[in-house]
Amino acid sequence: MKIHITETMLRDANQSLIATRMPLKDFQPILEVMDQAGYASLECWGGATFDSCLRYLDEDPWERLRTIRKHVKHTRLQMLLRGQNLLGYKHYPDDIVRKFVRKSVENGIDVIRIFDALNDLRNIEVAVDEARKAGAQVQGALCYTTSPIHSLDSFVELGKDLEAMGCHSVCIKDMAGIMTPKVAYELVTALKKHVKLPIVVHTHSTTGLASMTLLKAAEAGADTIDCAISCFSGGTSQPPTESMHYALKEMGLDTGLREDLLKQINDYFKPIQARALKSGLLTPIVMTTETDALTYQIPGGMLSNLVAQLTAQNALDRLPEVLEETPRVRADLGYPPLVTPSSQMVGAQAVANVLAGQRYKNVSKEIKAYLRGEYGRAPGTVSEELRRKVLGGEPVIEGRFADTLKPGYEVCKAEIGALARSEEDVLSYALFPVVAKNFFQKRLDKESRTVTYSIRKA
Ligand code: CO
Repeated sequence: MKIHITETMLRDANQSLIATRMPLKDFQPILEVMDQAGYASLECWGGATFDSCLRYLDEDPWERLRTIRKHVKHTRLQMLLRGQNLLGYKHYPDDIVRKFVRKSVENGIDVIRIFDALNDLRNIEVAVDEARKAGAQVQGALCYTTSPIHSLDSFVELGKDLEAMGCHSVCIKDMAGIMTPKVAYELVTALKKHVKLPIVVHTHSTTGLASMTLLKAAEAGADTIDCAISCFSGGTSQPPTESMHYALKEMGLDTGLREDLLKQINDYFKPIQARALKSGLLTPIVMTTETDALTYQIPGGMLSNLVAQLTAQNALDRLPEVLEETPRVRADLGYPPLVTPSSQMVGAQAVANVLAGQRYKNVSKEIKAYLRGEYGRAPGTVSEELRRKVLGGEPVIEGRFADTLKPGYEVCKAEIGALARSEEDVLSYALFPVVAKNFFQKRLDKESRTVTYSIRKA
């Protein structure tokens, strides 16, 4: 029996443990070894990598992708895409979504994992369609969460819908690490029964369940699991590649991974991990197990945000009330999965409700937009009372929000002008206008400095 492992070192492990701050030069020398190790794919792009390249690392994310592709000739390269939000934080018009997906594939991506934070599949249909047309492997992801309206059946329905949309595989995406081994077993079994596509399981070690969860998922017949090379595994990252490989091998599940190369990869990253620990980029907090998320059924990151918000307002003693208010706000909003951006919206509103001593006295513009339907359809029923109170008579968007957006690519191209030198540059600008513009300007300054220098030398 076979099982495949996707290595998350370059994207999710990098993002979850060290805030996506690993520069290309740190991992470029090991890429050819990673290419030979036998991974199902290398998750290496998308998510926060794009923003981080431009904002913090002074790197062109497209150039990074092309460089990875140059060194990785055999293994599939994988990215994470937030549906209509692409790699940004708002909904983009369809022309930008299509162009971005196409360019991602042209520059080297093979597998695109696509999800929507509300599991509103209308928000991923354009990206899925374009990825298929561009010849990519499309992995439709369902965001796993728990609530009175989410069930095994509702997730199986989502899986069937992803299959019907033309996805090539289905991923269970447990961003908070709250999926238990038992649920993983049941959910993978149910999906295998009702969906004819390969099933992929993605979780995080945050609450300490992940290795057990992946093992039970494998027992139930999961086709692929996500792991991270051991020195960048555990905590908020994924379970260790090598340990999962050994455990699975003993059970008769062949990962196809080469143990000698896994060791070589881990030995390569160890000094980088040590350096990150020393500089404080990697903190022991993200590497340990945090079980509060299981008690409160909210993601660890959200909990620490609540604590930070209350501390800032000198009101940490109100935490128990906020923890009681949080599920009530979530219920009012129709039980969105607690993932970016809904986790921040729900948390901030719960804090506001408690501190004001009155519910929904102050409502954020994000919650207003959510109630207007700008993020998509809530999984459950949104409180009509709340909607009336916040929106008054304002109309609610019932259709797909992106249908209300005008095409944007040409506008962006005109705005950024000569600073952009390629269609890829225009897309970087479309996603992160301020950050990309700064990056282009710096690139230009650097070049003119080099020119001046060579003239002087001549
Ligand atoms: Co993840």
